[in-house]
Amino acid sequence: MARQSRAIKNLLLDKIESMLDLPEQFLTLQTPRLILRKLTIADAEDIFAYASDPQVTAYTLWEAHRSIDDTYDYLNNIVFELYRSGQGMDWGIISKKSNKLIGTCGLYTKPVHRRAELGYALSRDYWGQGLMTEAAKAAIAFGFHVMHLQRIQGYCAVENISSARVLEKSGLEFEGILRNYVFTKESAWDVKMYAIISKSNFPLIG
Ligand SMILES: CC(C)(COP(=O)(O)OP(=O)(O)OC[C@H]1O[C@@H](n2cnc3c(N)ncnc32)[C@H](O)[C@@H]1OP(=O)(O)O)[C@@H](O)C(=O)NCCC(=O)NCCS
Repeated sequence: MARQSRAIKNLLLDKIESMLDLPEQFLTLQTPRLILRKLTIADAEDIFAYASDPQVTAYTLWEAHRSIDDTYDYLNNIVFELYRSGQGMDWGIISKKSNKLIGTCGLYTKPVHRRAELGYALSRDYWGQGLMTEAAKAAIAFGFHVMHLQRIQGYCAVENISSARVLEKSGLEFEGILRNYVFTKESAWDVKMYAIISKSNFPLIG
């Protein structure tokens, strides 16, 4: 309790250094159509359903999950490790309509620079409805107002048109093409880098 009230005081004083300082209720976000909440091991099957889809993973840095064990590895080694380190946040995206977990959206930070990178993936059944843009805007608002970031960036393979659109619609500006920026799936990829540095268009609520 003392830790929580200290964290809330620190939040108001612009002193949150780590997600671990935040009381649990600050980590759940609501948008008109979505709930963003912490992932649990019980989400593995819903994640596997889209993370094993080669169309979803065509432009992700990670390989398609071949079995549910890959999903458990992802949760244990990446997501829960991120929660333990307090250096970012990966939210499960729940559709209010279907009450299903339909994707993830995260902010992966470099705390010393007050910078984070946005990453996301969504089940194909839900593409093209503006849902990831809705989730990304909530994550960005959280990044500026709760994590006190100075820069939120996102990049995508130059061919990944829908991801570039999500970044643009979420208010990030195109900064340029970074050549051979990532080496993944046996080749070097050129990426489009986007970023936002102003929180003025991102009210914490609404
Ligand atoms: C990228 C992704 C998250 C987008 O989610 P989404 O909820 O469908 O995104 P939105 O509906 O908010 O926006 C998608 C935009 O891309 C546009 N788009 C999609 N395919 C397009 C195409 N081939 N040509 C032109 N525009 C296209 C849509 O029209 C929409 O833009 P609009 O609102 O201006 O019409 C989803 O496609 C996904 O999970 N892809 C696989 C994982 C991935 O690539 N993650 C990102 C790695 S960097």
